[in-house]
Amino acid sequence: MWLDIGCGEAHNPRLVAARGARLGAFDLAPAFLRQAVASERTHPAGVRYLRASVVDLPFRSAAFDVAMAPMSLVDLPGPTRALAETFRVLRPGAFFQFSITHPCVVTPHLRWGRDAVGWKLARQVGRYFDRLSDEIEEWMFGAAPPEIRERVWVFRVPRFDWTLAEWLNRPNEAGFRRERALEPCPSDEVARPHPAIADGRLLPNFLQLRWRKPSP
Ligand SMILES: C[S@@+](CC[C@H](N)C(=O)[O-])C[C@H]1O[C@@H](n2cnc3c(N)ncnc32)[C@H](O)[C@@H]1O
Repeated sequence: MWLDIGCGEAHNPRLVAARGARLGAFDLAPAFLRQAVASERTHPAGVRYLRASVVDLPFRSAAFDVAMAPMSLVDLPGPTRALAETFRVLRPGAFFQFSITHPCVVTPHLRWGRDAVGWKLARQVGRYFDRLSDEIEEWMFGAAPPEIRERVWVFRVPRFDWTLAEWLNRPNEAGFRRERALEPCPSDEVARPHPAIADGRLLPNFLQLRWRKPSP
């Protein structure tokens, strides 16, 4: 049984379920869960949803074979409790994969340097060690069509920044062993028709880390 941590409106668990996994997914936000449950009703994928917080999981120990947390641990004030709880609910030998915005590339200060015609060339990053526990960020999907942007509010999310060393050390301290790291880079064929992700060809905006709970 797989577990998706912070599933949002459930795009990812539905993709995984479509490939044959038995999966439970949870999120803290009722609005996301309503959307997830609505999708399950109209297009059943066999995913079970629950409202819960990753810092206090309502599951027995060693209940899951795999856990994934795409882009959800970054929304926590600090992932230490979440990592301990995830470790507890995984069976020995299970793997845990999470993705985060790349801490060295997506820093509190960032500015693009461009060439003479305005193409992005390089990014200035800074304030890497700042702790922004009371900073609220506002943003909107840059690629959303104007008619959508007019209809929806900007997102307001608290911003928490951990350094690369912290993201590498804390899961170890929770008991996990690191297996693999990946910095996704869109191919030229993918990036060309989607300018919003083209800067991922210059710098890794995301970092994916895979861990394993050791067998005794
Ligand atoms: C950036 S979204 C990512 C959603 C989804 N995983 C995806 O990749 O589309 C972060 C998600 O984490 C959820 N979240 C934040 N804190 C949480 C917590 N303590 N427990 C469970 N989910 C949480 C948010 O409600 C939100 O749905």
